[in-house]
Amino acid sequence: SLTKAQNEIEAAKSLDELEKIRITYLGKKGVMTDLKKNISKLPNEEKPMAGKLINETSTQIENALAEKSELLKKELLKEKIAEETIDVTAHFEKHDSGHLALINQTLEELETIFQNMGFDVVEGPEIDTVKNVFDDLNSPADHPARSTSDTFYITDDILLRPHTSSMQIRVMEEGKLPIKMVSAGRVFRNDEVDATHSPMFHQLECLVVDENVSMANLKATLETFIKEMFGDDMELRYRPHHFPFTEPSLEVDATCPICRGEGCPACGNTGWSMELLGGGMVHPNVLEACGIDSEKYTGFAFGLGVDRIAMVKYGLDDIRLLYDNDKRFLEQF
Ligand code: DAH
Repeated sequence: SLTKAQNEIEAAKSLDELEKIRITYLGKKGVMTDLKKNISKLPNEEKPMAGKLINETSTQIENALAEKSELLKKELLKEKIAEETIDVTAHFEKHDSGHLALINQTLEELETIFQNMGFDVVEGPEIDTVKNVFDDLNSPADHPARSTSDTFYITDDILLRPHTSSMQIRVMEEGKLPIKMVSAGRVFRNDEVDATHSPMFHQLECLVVDENVSMANLKATLETFIKEMFGDDMELRYRPHHFPFTEPSLEVDATCPICRGEGCPACGNTGWSMELLGGGMVHPNVLEACGIDSEKYTGFAFGLGVDRIAMVKYGLDDIRLLYDNDKRFLEQF
């Protein structure tokens, strides 16, 4: 029965099988245990010999079991390691993964540039009050932008903001000085949709208020920004303008980023981009409306057309491309 046990152990393919063999031979009702019990029935002189033989055989079976068990465990480990290795050459089905829309990529890029220049990025609501959007921004009572034909009103006092300039008021009213912030987001105007107009578009508002803030700070900020965004060879052109909330006010164009000033169809051969932003020195009335001493503090502000920046940067001739969700367009960026 030793050879039989050894053969069975040899053939065993799993630890479970091995355990069954152990029970068959060495278990309480196993073959060897039975033999031991039967020793008492043998003649006295044969007993020691039989006992010795049975014990030796049991030990041999035990050893064989232990050896085989070790072997099986090693094999199991090997199999497991083999299973867990990653086949880096394996072929797999590639899935389309989404990404930020071009306008959101542009917003993030703008915010990063201003963050790197030390500006706080502030979030604000798309629905705001007439007070924040017009009154405190020094807009005259008869300003055309106040009319319901230009701006979407929700009630007499609440509207969809037509510009991000309302964020200037919100931040100044918090009462912490100095201020150095940008705030970007959606704005809404009652405009017909065409290649350059959309009833919803994006602006980035910038506001700096401190002692001794001057027009030179505004120009330096804008020039650093435009070079970061489009490259070192960009220049800005300042044109006088009028806004109720700044004095003096200006509009700014940049070198056409497509022809870099040489003249091309995109810029109508002028070498200059379309108007990118409006800005100026914060009007003292605006500072005072927010409880800021306009004798002590001055500020500059500007509002940037984010969609225009995206159009100019990526050479788009139609603002609708940004909002149509045409996959052929989206996949290019
Ligand atoms: N709010 C103006 C607009 O929507 C843009 C603007 C002009 C923002 C001058 C400013 C500013 O902060 O100082 O066209």
